[in-house]
Amino acid sequence: MAEAAANGEPRMKWVRIRAASRGDMDAVMDIEETCFSLPWSRNDIERDIADNILSAYFVAETAGAVCGCAGMWVVLGECHIMTIAVTPEHRQAGVGAMLLMKLLDEARLRGASRYLLEVRASNAPAIGMYEKFGFKTIDVRRAYYENNKEDAVIMERNDRPVQPVDEGIRADSLDEKR
Ligand SMILES: CC(C)(COP(=O)(O)OP(=O)(O)OC[C@H]1O[C@@H](n2cnc3c(N)ncnc32)[C@H](O)[C@@H]1OP(=O)(O)O)[C@@H](O)C(=O)NCCC(=O)NCCS
Repeated sequence: MAEAAANGEPRMKWVRIRAASRGDMDAVMDIEETCFSLPWSRNDIERDIADNILSAYFVAETAGAVCGCAGMWVVLGECHIMTIAVTPEHRQAGVGAMLLMKLLDEARLRGASRYLLEVRASNAPAIGMYEKFGFKTIDVRRAYYENNKEDAVIMERNDRPVQPVDEGIRADSLDEKR
């Protein structure tokens, strides 16, 4: 449930997050092309939705219309967030956070404990959202984006338990060396 008051009225009564299907392709492409200056291609997205067992792709729906989408790959315990976007008229009402939570939950079910993404350095709303969910900047790739040579910020959330430095050194193995 996402409700945002505008003039005292809720903007959305409810939002449902569900797995995307081929039938969502037109709506997903509209969102990609509206939200990104370098959108993913239709072929890439369709493959991720329909054929790629390493990917998971979700849409957010309100009043029967798709208002957001998000996709990721999970490989060897690492989740790579590929895209997350909300139509401009539905932003700042919690939809992006719902999509991100869905990605994190699904990735965890698939065995991920490390989450990675790249985001334009100027994208304060997205960076704010990722920080809210525990992501931290670990690197900056200079002039990464082709169209305007903008830097990419690499963000990571790592839920792997921290290993004590001496874990694995058994007391008896130390005794043997004495
Ligand atoms: C980034 C994006 C998905 C956020 O979606 P959203 O539905 O507006 O986000 P939410 O309402 O769920 O907000 C979640 C958090 O994001 C941050 N946030 C959202 N909009 C923000 C803004 N305009 N300025 C600063 N922080 C913002 C806040 O931390 C917010 O938490 P809060 O409401 O408790 O303050 C949306 O702005 C978008 O689609 N942008 C274009 C596509 C894009 O850049 N995607 C990311 C690519 S890496």
